[in-house]
Amino acid sequence: MSKVLENIMNEAKALNKNIVLPEGEDSRVVKAASESAKEKLATVTLLGNPEEIKKNNPDIDLSEVIIIDPVTNAKTLEYASMLFELRKGKINKKTGAPEYADVEAAKASILKDYTMYAALMLKAGDVDGLVSGACHSTANTLRPGLQVIKTAPGINTVSSSFVMVAPGENKYNPDGVAVFGDCAINIEPDAQQIADIAISSAETAKVIAGIEPRVAMLSFSTKGSGNDDKFFKSVPKMQEATALAKAQAPDLAIDGEFQFDAAVAPEVGQLKAPGSKVAGNANVFIFPNINAGNIGYKIAQRFGGYMALGPICQGFAKPINDLSRGCSADDVKAVIAITALQAK
Ligand SMILES: CC(C)(COP(=O)(O)OP(=O)(O)OC[C@H]1O[C@@H](n2cnc3c(N)ncnc32)[C@H](O)[C@@H]1OP(=O)(O)O)[C@@H](O)C(=O)NCCC(=O)NCCS
Repeated sequence: MSKVLENIMNEAKALNKNIVLPEGEDSRVVKAASESAKEKLATVTLLGNPEEIKKNNPDIDLSEVIIIDPVTNAKTLEYASMLFELRKGKINKKTGAPEYADVEAAKASILKDYTMYAALMLKAGDVDGLVSGACHSTANTLRPGLQVIKTAPGINTVSSSFVMVAPGENKYNPDGVAVFGDCAINIEPDAQQIADIAISSAETAKVIAGIEPRVAMLSFSTKGSGNDDKFFKSVPKMQEATALAKAQAPDLAIDGEFQFDAAVAPEVGQLKAPGSKVAGNANVFIFPNINAGNIGYKIAQRFGGYMALGPICQGFAKPINDLSRGCSADDVKAVIAITALQAK
C-alpha cells in the first residue's frame, strides 16, 4: 500500500465517520463493509434485507456492520416526504410529468433506488458519507446526490479529480503526489465550471493528498503564446477560468494558462511565465475538458507508472463517491476512507 493511501486509512480510523453503502446486493461491497467495520475504518451502514445479505454471503462476518432494510425501516416514510418536498416542482424529463406525484410515489421510488435512499439518509444527517457504484452506472450513482445533496457553499459544479501517486522519486513532482481534475464528470466545462473544478481540486489536494496546493490551469498555450480562436476558444476559456478562480479564492496559489512543462519544470516556468508562484512547481493540474483530462491521467498511469486514486467526487455539500464497476473489496475500502476524510 502506498504511503499516501496508508495515511488516508489511518486518518479515516481516527475520524470514525458513518458511511452508507447502498449496494447490499454486491458481495464485494459486503466484504468491504465487514472488513472496514472490523478494522474500525468507519462505522458502516449497509442497505438491504439482512437475511438475504447473510444468505448470499455465508462466510462474511457482519456482526459489526449496521444493516438497514429500507422496506421495514421506520424512517422510510420520513425520507420519502423529504424527497417529495425537495423535488417539488421538478419535471421528469422523459415523461413531462412531475417527478413525484405524492409522498407515496416518492416512497415507491426510493424502495427501488437505494442510492437515492442513501442520499436522503445523508441529507438527513443520519450518515456522514455515501459510497456506491459497484453495480450502478456513474450517472445513476451521482444523480441522487446532484438532485438532493447539491453543491457545497460557493461551488456550483460537482466535479472529480484523481490523486496521482508517484511510483518513486520524480524531479518534476517532488511532493510524490499530484491532483488531476476533472477527468471523469464534466465533459466540456465552461470557464466558471473550470474555476469551480480548480477550487474543489485544491481542496482535494489538501484533504486527501495531504499537500499544500499550487494549481496550474492547463492548455497548449502559456500566457497567451498560442490561440485557438478559430476552433475551440479553449485558451481564452482557461484565461477566464484562471481570473475567476483567483477572484473566488484569493488566498489560493493558482495561475495559468500553462503548458504542462511550464507548470512543472522550473526552467521552462521561469522562461515562459516569469514571476509566477505556480509556474515550474505546480502540484494540482486542471484540464480544459474531459478529453484532455482523461487521456492525461491515463498517460501518467500507464507510461509514468503513477497510481491513480479516484475518481474522487468533489464539490458536493456532503461527500458522495462513485466506485468503478470493476472494483475490488480493497478498492471499496479505500473509497470509504477517502469519503470519511471528506466528511471531516
Ligand atoms: C453527472 C451526470 C451524471 C449528470 O447527468 P444527468 O442526471 O443527466 O443530469 P441532469 O442534467 O438531468 O441534471 C440533474 C440535476 O443535477 C444537476 N447537475 C448536473 N450536473 C451537475 C454538476 N456537474 N454539478 C452540479 N449539479 C449538476 C442539474 O442541475 C440538475 O439539477 P435539478 O434536477 O435539481 O435541476 C452526467 O453529466 C454524466 O453522465 N457525466 C459523465 C459521467 C461519466 O459517464 N463519466 C465517465 C466515467 S470515467
